[in-house]
Amino acid sequence: MTKLQLNGKTIAVETTETTPLAYVLRNECGIKSVKLGCEAEQCGACMVLADDRPVPSCTLTFEEAANYRLTTLEGLGKGEVLSQVQHALLASNASQCGYCLSGIAIAAHALFQSNAHPTRNDIVTALDGHLCRCGAHPRVIRALEQLAT
Ligand code: FES
Ligand code: FES
Repeated sequence: MTKLQLNGKTIAVETTETTPLAYVLRNECGIKSVKLGCEAEQCGACMVLADDRPVPSCTLTFEEAANYRLTTLEGLGKGEVLSQVQHALLASNASQCGYCLSGIAIAAHALFQSNAHPTRNDIVTALDGHLCRCGAHPRVIRALEQLAT
């Protein structure tokens, strides 16, 4: 049994040390916002915060993850109240199927935590590793630019 610090709580999870965190979150912790795409750090769908830094959970092992304070989309807001980034993305309907969106929200949250008024270039750079098969990137960037003003 290993402890994980997840979304402000400490939970005990039993799994093998080398299991990728994304599988642990989805299959053992009921965290379905974390999506699996490439499983090779190439798409951003599985992004979580590890001590406030966005990291792909498809390659981070369970053993490594236990060293960090982890936050997923479910932990960005406070209870029923969405975070500013979540609210901005939803208010602008900045997605199509939504598969990429929780990873994008994680990366954007980290950006706005470090800089409340990022430039368009800052936003594009922060989201560079996130693929969107629906082509919703322009809407995402517009939504985040509005939040930054
Ligand atoms: S599934 Fe992790 S980066 Fe694509
Ligand atoms: S909205 Fe469908 S993958 Fe981005």
